[in-house]
Amino acid sequence: MLARAAGLDETQAEKVLFATAMHDVGKIGIRDGILLKPGKLAPEEFEAMKAHTTIGADIIGDHPSELLTLARQIAIGHHERWDGSGYPNGEKGEDIPIESRIAAICDVFDALLSERPYKKAWPVDEAVDLIRESAGRHFDPRLVELFLELVPEILALHEQYPDEEDFADLG
Ligand SMILES: [Fe+2]
Repeated sequence: MLARAAGLDETQAEKVLFATAMHDVGKIGIRDGILLKPGKLAPEEFEAMKAHTTIGADIIGDHPSELLTLARQIAIGHHERWDGSGYPNGEKGEDIPIESRIAAICDVFDALLSERPYKKAWPVDEAVDLIRESAGRHFDPRLVELFLELVPEILALHEQYPDEEDFADLG
């Protein structure tokens, strides 16, 4: 939805949909003790966690396939931030490919609405507020504007795909 709203054509928007599904594949390479930790990560644990972006890119590899090329780009780019404070490369603004900027917003919003070992699911209003407040710092401000217009449709979609299990079952 956000890719379409940002002006990507239908084919590219569909590629974003499928490529984004692979954004965290690199977490395979992160210890469960870090992934499932019920509290805040220690600085060295957070450093280790950051590697899921580059590990993901390595797992996906270099392919002629446009979908896998995009998946690799999103795996490495979804934690970059508009103001340059993200990781792994500290890229800034439009140097971050638009597909990765789109994935960044959707990933954070989905994470906020989901229960995690270290947090409860946030109420929708608070999650929307955080996205709004992060415009121009974490997120591309133009994409945030489009996202905010889409919130009712996004929430309807979110309700269609509820989280099936909590993390306790995966431990
Ligand atoms: Fe991630």
